[in-house]
Amino acid sequence: MTHTSSFDAVLLVCSSFCPFAAVAAEYVQLADNITVLEGENVTLRCKTDMDITHKAWLYRTSILFAGTDKWTLDRRISLLNNNDSEYTIHIENVAVSDEGLYLCSLQKPEGQKPRISRVSRFYLIVEGEALI
Ligand SMILES: *[C@@H]1O[C@H](CO)[C@@H](O)[C@H](O)[C@H]1NC(C)=O
Ligand SMILES: *[C@@H]1O[C@H](CO)[C@@H](O)[C@H](O)[C@H]1NC(C)=O
Ligand SMILES: *[C@@H]1O[C@H](CO)[C@@H](O)[C@H](O)[C@H]1NC(C)=O
Repeated sequence: MTHTSSFDAVLLVCSSFCPFAAVAAEYVQLADNITVLEGENVTLRCKTDMDITHKAWLYRTSILFAGTDKWTLDRRISLLNNNDSEYTIHIENVAVSDEGLYLCSLQKPEGQKPRISRVSRFYLIVEGEALI
């Protein structure tokens, strides 16, 4: 299993969606590893703060949420909380195919540097029932 770097993932998304353009200036954190059992629910909580104006959740090459706009068609994924301190998504009934790197990208207003102030990375590991 390869852990795609968030830089690559954001660049891939960027070919179709480019508020993330100034990606070179981003500050990338180490991935937090989150292990869940298949069939469970998981909450991915991204810490944010007041001066953040643009937020997005990404998975592989797709955007799950851009701000409060839901881009994914997956009904199991919802925005649980979005305020000045957290930007949190919830995935119900996790499947093995949900495994991988989830990114929370936080941006400051136009004109402020760096444009992307933080990318939080969450590596979701899904354990199949058969392992129990
Ligand atoms: C997550 O797992 C990877 C691979 O096992 C490891 O290199 C990394 O340090 C872990 N991240 C954290 C925050 O523990
Ligand atoms: C997952 O969340 C849904 C909706 O919130 C709930 O109905 C269900 O019982 C939860 N499943 C587990 C395993 O906690
Ligand atoms: C954001 O929501 C969480 C969960 O409801 C709450 O604990 C936190 O205090 C809220 N933060 C702000 C700045 O409102």
